[in-house]
Amino acid sequence: MKDLTGKVAIVTGGSRGIGRHIALQLAQRGADVAINYRSRQSDADETLKEIEAEGVRALAIKADLSKMPEARGMIKKVHEKWGRIDILVNNAGITKDKSMKKLTDDDWNDVLDTNLGSVYATCSEVLNIMLEQKYGRIINITSFVGQAGNFGQANYAASKGGIIAFTKTMALEVAKHNITVNAIAPGFTETEMLAQVPENIREQIISRVPMGRFGQPEEIARAVVFLAAEGDYITGQQINVNGGVYM
Ligand SMILES: NC(=O)c1ccc[n+]([C@@H]2O[C@H](COP(=O)([O-])OP(=O)(O)OC[C@H]3O[C@@H](n4cnc5c(N)ncnc54)[C@H](OP(=O)(O)O)[C@@H]3O)[C@@H](O)[C@H]2O)c1
Repeated sequence: MKDLTGKVAIVTGGSRGIGRHIALQLAQRGADVAINYRSRQSDADETLKEIEAEGVRALAIKADLSKMPEARGMIKKVHEKWGRIDILVNNAGITKDKSMKKLTDDDWNDVLDTNLGSVYATCSEVLNIMLEQKYGRIINITSFVGQAGNFGQANYAASKGGIIAFTKTMALEVAKHNITVNAIAPGFTETEMLAQVPENIREQIISRVPMGRFGQPEEIARAVVFLAAEGDYITGQQINVNGGVYM
């Protein structure tokens, strides 16, 4: 696989879970990596050390991406510090699961603002930088739930479906400028997000997955790094890494 030495990458929500593995694998390929997180600084510090151990530059930026000015500010900080941004991985995301009968306006807004509003804001802010460079690789983390729907996840499904539609549209608009925009759609993946799910439901979930197991965050990260390093002629696509749960 191609070397990413000299490239600057940002991974939102890169302090733990899938984002941490994406950040580490990008660093292992030689990219300088900035991670973003919302509140859990100890996780960010730990990931920062692991990135630095790969011999590349590392940065951790605390910003609540559900607030557009903070999302834009995070992109500006990395650009001011390192002078370019080659790879943007929009990975930060949350769930607030409730059936439609119980879902509140706050549950809707929090999830849409965090999962979808942040993708719009970071992409909008990075656009001029990538246009000037005539190079950019944007990878948005969606979910099979955005393709198939899922009980109790109307807000999350809408945010993830929105990411897919947004990805295709932005890809069309920037394709001529050597900027690719793609989405990775994980299935159920073993992180704290999944750990919130009660054990009996986890067992039901596994029975729905043709491969009979949850995904590992490293497996999602490998697809992201492939797009970043090798995906020069891939744009506007959604790549499913889901054990067959949605085909
Ligand atoms: N796990 C799955 O089964 C699964 C399946 C399909 C898709 N996905 C998607 O994959 C992505 C990563 O999921 P994960 O399971 O790794 O999640 P996770 O373990 O819960 O980690 C979430 C990360 O996002 C950050 N974050 C959350 N809200 C934020 C905000 N408002 N501003 C900035 N950062 C914020 C967190 O920072 P703090 O720690 O500081 O809060 C953390 O770094 C998400 O987009 C998720 O929807 C996950």
